[in-house]
Amino acid sequence: MTAQIIDGKKLAESIKEEIKNAIAERERQMLPIPGLATVLVGNNPASKTYVANKIKTSDALGIRSFSYELDENVSLEELESLIKELNDNPDVQGVLVQLPLPEHLSEDKVMHNISPKKDVDGLHPYNAGLLSRKYSEPLFYPCTPSGIIRMIQSVCPDISGMNAAVIGRSSIVGMPTAMMLSRCNATPTICHSYTKHLDEICRQSDIIVAAAGTPKLIQGDWVKPGAIVIDVGINHIPDSTKPRGYRIVGDVDFDEAVKRAGAISPVPGGVGPMTIAMLMSNTLKAIEYRES
Ligand code: GUN
Repeated sequence: MTAQIIDGKKLAESIKEEIKNAIAERERQMLPIPGLATVLVGNNPASKTYVANKIKTSDALGIRSFSYELDENVSLEELESLIKELNDNPDVQGVLVQLPLPEHLSEDKVMHNISPKKDVDGLHPYNAGLLSRKYSEPLFYPCTPSGIIRMIQSVCPDISGMNAAVIGRSSIVGMPTAMMLSRCNATPTICHSYTKHLDEICRQSDIIVAAAGTPKLIQGDWVKPGAIVIDVGINHIPDSTKPRGYRIVGDVDFDEAVKRAGAISPVPGGVGPMTIAMLMSNTLKAIEYRES
């Protein structure tokens, strides 16, 4: 058996097309169009690429982009004052501070400053808190977890009662993904570097979400036959045959896992494009909160 490939790029394209049409319709009706502010601190090359992609996609869909690049050594006060300005700017509906931040800046403190109504990342403690409450809805669901859920539902719309292994407990991916799987009535097990018998937990899981940042951590024979496997890993492996001197691999041993899984997402072309599509979707949604 060879798994169905969950093509995140294609799925993201169709979501972006819908957003583009919705924004064009707003323009026709002379309604305000959404604006997204991105804040990049320092020179992390991966962050630069991610932010550039976010700006490029905003522009392509008709979302106004406001881009800020701050020096590596910017003070917390300066960054907070920019965020306050963006919170107060009526042309900006979404405020995104790219993570990770340099060590002297507390991510928690910075996130607290973003208005929850403009928190298109869904990472503000107010929204993160609401995500974990059974009868509440956050204003925004975080982007990568939303993309993961959409990818899973593209091959299995109802995951009620399924066991899910989430490997990684970060605030951006692992934890909120587990919350969202639970909201879909699946039963998540949150695994991390101290988890014992990870292989056994995976073998009992109908869904595996790998977000550990360890190349090929999830081996082919850990995958339950027919399971849905979502690979969130982006790991750079030295490869002298590539022009850049490296290639990108995920957290799953794809070549082996594809033989057992029912459906599997590739790296690249899986979760990455979906994260950006969900950010655009959140930015469009943010217009709803504009005058509320
Ligand atoms: N760094 C890696 N992923 C993300 C994300 O989804 N949002 C932000 N703000 N930073 C990130």
